[in-house]
Amino acid sequence: MATYAPPPGTADIFEDEASEWRFLESAAREVFSRYGYGELRTPVFEYTELFQRGLGGETEVVQKEMYTFADRGGRSLTLRPEGTAGVMRALSNTDVLNGVEQRVYYMGPMFRGERPAAGRRRQFHQIGVENVGRCAPLLDAECLAMLRAFLNRIGLADAELVINTRGVREDRPAAEKVLREYFSKHIGEMCDDCRTRLERNIWRILDCKQEACGKIIAGAPEYLEYFSPESREYFSSVRRALDTLGVAYRVEPRLVRGLDYYVHTVFELTHPALGAQTAIAGGGRYELFLPGQNRPVPGVGFAAGVERLLLARQALEKTNNAENAAVYLVGLTPETRIANLALANRLRESGLKVALELEDRSFKAQLRGANKSGARFAVIRGGDEAARGVAVVKNMSDGSQIEISDGQLFEHIRRETAQTR
Ligand code: HAM
Repeated sequence: MATYAPPPGTADIFEDEASEWRFLESAAREVFSRYGYGELRTPVFEYTELFQRGLGGETEVVQKEMYTFADRGGRSLTLRPEGTAGVMRALSNTDVLNGVEQRVYYMGPMFRGERPAAGRRRQFHQIGVENVGRCAPLLDAECLAMLRAFLNRIGLADAELVINTRGVREDRPAAEKVLREYFSKHIGEMCDDCRTRLERNIWRILDCKQEACGKIIAGAPEYLEYFSPESREYFSSVRRALDTLGVAYRVEPRLVRGLDYYVHTVFELTHPALGAQTAIAGGGRYELFLPGQNRPVPGVGFAAGVERLLLARQALEKTNNAENAAVYLVGLTPETRIANLALANRLRESGLKVALELEDRSFKAQLRGANKSGARFAVIRGGDEAARGVAVVKNMSDGSQIEISDGQLFEHIRRETAQTR
């Protein structure tokens, strides 16, 4: 029972879980770098106006969820609620404004003052990518294919991808008109927030999570047909490319997403382990107005929620064996424990993860340690083995064991672990 718990919606992460985080992070680095993405680390706080202007003043995030504070000079700062705006600010100092493509990925904490629940934290962590500077349907498709590759790599191939288009800004008035006609008729049955949204930003209604509103939203007109032929063609090109690439998806004609910077393609991923209401990742194409700029910068990207990826993996019991020790050395006499320590250091220098017992504990207790470590092999040395210049190598998965001479031991372990890694 925690007696000194961290603030609600935050968590301490101990080694068991941290090793899972490292696995996800290194899988992301590996997959994204194959697609030409490099890492970008931006500050955890930014000037508040960056998010107000970038994400849209009518969004839930900006209106209700930001951690905003004044610094000692009286300037308004905000803990980043998402990564895209900061990445765009950083990239605006490069030649991206001249249309040169930049591919970056990032990972780290984000902050939103939401009601904490399973998979919903106030400090949560995203792994995200942004492809900035250019606009083309194939870039959107490539980005989605990469997200799929990442999810496959971490064992979440069952994630469902839903996509839609938001068209371009010029398309919106015609679609808004149809939506307004429809929602005006039903607004009496909808929540207070939706009443305000009807006047201020009708698209936000489509993102309302209230149950009563959801039923009405489900009957809203599909607005794609009111978009321009160019926007519809853009969407068709993205879908054709996804079909060719074998990236499975479902079109959800009312998906808008919670941030206002999106144009054209928008998407979300859910996983059966967490249910359809909880997205494990989301993203799309966007245009972002940076402070001081009157021309928006285009990009496409996504962010996955690390806590949610982990919940999905846990539900599937996908734990990451790569982090387990390869061998566990059992020593039953002071001399064998010293010999084991020397062997462990040689094996570690050669790149293997090794665990061992350095204290005087019973054979049973040491074997328990070997089991707990998840090691594939235990090396057992007692007084008898030491006298004969051998060690017993036990395969922990099938229980079989063989004797190996001290001189052969290092090479034997290297060979066996290389085969089973
Ligand atoms: P978002 O949909 O707001 O998009 O967040 C992306 C992901 O972050 C969500 O799908 C979810 O997995 C995770 N997430 C969001 N809020 C929480 C929370 N309170 N607790 C735990 N996980 C959470 C963005 O942030 C955009 N910047 C994505 C993007 C990148 N679009 C284009 N480029």
